[in-house]
Amino acid sequence: MAEPQAAPVHSPVLMLGGGLMGLAIAHQLACRGRSVTVLSRDRHEAAGFAAAGMLAPHAEGLEGALLALGQESLRRIPDWVGQVEADSGLACGLRNSGVVVPFRSSVEREAFPTARWGEGLDRAALERQVPGIGAGFRCGLLFAQDGQIDNRRRLMRALERACIQRGVRLLEGVEVQGLLRGGVAGEFQGVTLTTAQGERQILAAGQAVLCGGAWSGLLLSGLPVEPLKGQMLSLQAPREALPRVVFGPGTYLVPRQDGLVVVGATIERCGFHRELSPAGLRQLQRGIRELLPAASHWPLMERWSGFRPCTPDAGPLLGASGIPGLFLATGHHRNGVLLAAITASISTELICGTLDPVCAGLLQAFRWDRFRDCADIGLSAMVCR
Ligand code: GLY
Repeated sequence: MAEPQAAPVHSPVLMLGGGLMGLAIAHQLACRGRSVTVLSRDRHEAAGFAAAGMLAPHAEGLEGALLALGQESLRRIPDWVGQVEADSGLACGLRNSGVVVPFRSSVEREAFPTARWGEGLDRAALERQVPGIGAGFRCGLLFAQDGQIDNRRRLMRALERACIQRGVRLLEGVEVQGLLRGGVAGEFQGVTLTTAQGERQILAAGQAVLCGGAWSGLLLSGLPVEPLKGQMLSLQAPREALPRVVFGPGTYLVPRQDGLVVVGATIERCGFHRELSPAGLRQLQRGIRELLPAASHWPLMERWSGFRPCTPDAGPLLGASGIPGLFLATGHHRNGVLLAAITASISTELICGTLDPVCAGLLQAFRWDRFRDCADIGLSAMVCR
């Protein structure tokens, strides 16, 4: 097998993963004139197709650096989506629907980490925002600045189309087997992979982004990313029956423009077992009954599951890795759709060497080396399976 050669400065950048992050970064890089190849094993596995699409740093109750990252991403989303829509010619279903978080007591509400960013609602105001809200909820917070996007039916497809329009090479059915390293500093030099036809190949490249979602740790052992399964379902509501997203304890309802309501989600630590279970369904149905009793009568349309890529502190892994030339964009846990815009931007700027001080500051809290256990990543990545 021939040794891969060191890549020239502007050789293609590889996306190791063809989900939301891989496509979003590939698109931004292509907009900057870079040549990009996306390696995707099975596009349907992507969390971007499973998530509910909430753009909700406040309703999710994020704190500290993660809240700042989420807020910055939220600020950038309209422009980012505009660019994806312009390049693809497809609407992404971005809605400034606002998100209501209901509480059983005012004590609970006051303790909510992002309470100061929301508008307080007493029971009457809560009922006006969410007609038919369950009787157990006494007050709420309205985060009018939070919203949603139709990731599953629209954004993912639009991103794929935008990438193609910008000349990105999308390789589907490709399984990356290992990373190739060489040179004095053990730089990234490419990957070994199995093609959709089952052939083993080497793909040389000087730069890559590891954006394999919940599967990222399989490629870079030592990377603390584990799958957390979420079971979801959708209901068909009468149009406009639910004007706001409702983010209840353990269950949320996300109404799309056409009346489809996405309901999530279980949180299960069970490896990569994607089965839909009766217990998962019961949990969601119980949540729906408590949150919005009328919704129990809306027809069930679909059930599915996906895997959140979770790190020990629930924050993403972004930026440089211990391997020169390899960047990380993974571990987005519950906030992948929200963080796609800022992740694409930061990753692109880093790769192009034009990261501004604001983004550099945001990045600090999400470096891979904040986890001591990761200290051996540089060595373990030598392994080519
Ligand atoms: N962001 C919602 C969830 O992960 O279920």
